[in-house]
Amino acid sequence: MNVTCEALLGESFLDVALAHNIDLQHNCGGVCACSTCHVKVKQGMERLPEMEDDEADQLDEAEGLALESRLGCQCKILEDTDYIVEIPQLNPAIAKLFHEGAH
Ligand code: FES
Repeated sequence: MNVTCEALLGESFLDVALAHNIDLQHNCGGVCACSTCHVKVKQGMERLPEMEDDEADQLDEAEGLALESRLGCQCKILEDTDYIVEIPQLNPAIAKLFHEGAH
């Protein structure tokens, strides 16, 4: 499913997803302390802020890591351009943990 969203400068991909009811997980609340907001940036990577060490460390825990992987909460939109962002399917193990945590 493809969704097109408008975003404000300074918003993160996580902010944009939540504002548009897109189910991007964010177990730590967007403070770079998990990897559940893992996204793959298919277009616009070069327009994003460089990855900090904290993000790289958390990202190492993400399933299906790829060259275009980033954490959605750490990708601030700082330029007026188009980005294409893929949200990988939720890993069944993560889904199970998340579900159990809700009880
Ligand atoms: S929401 Fe936890 S690192 Fe992004």
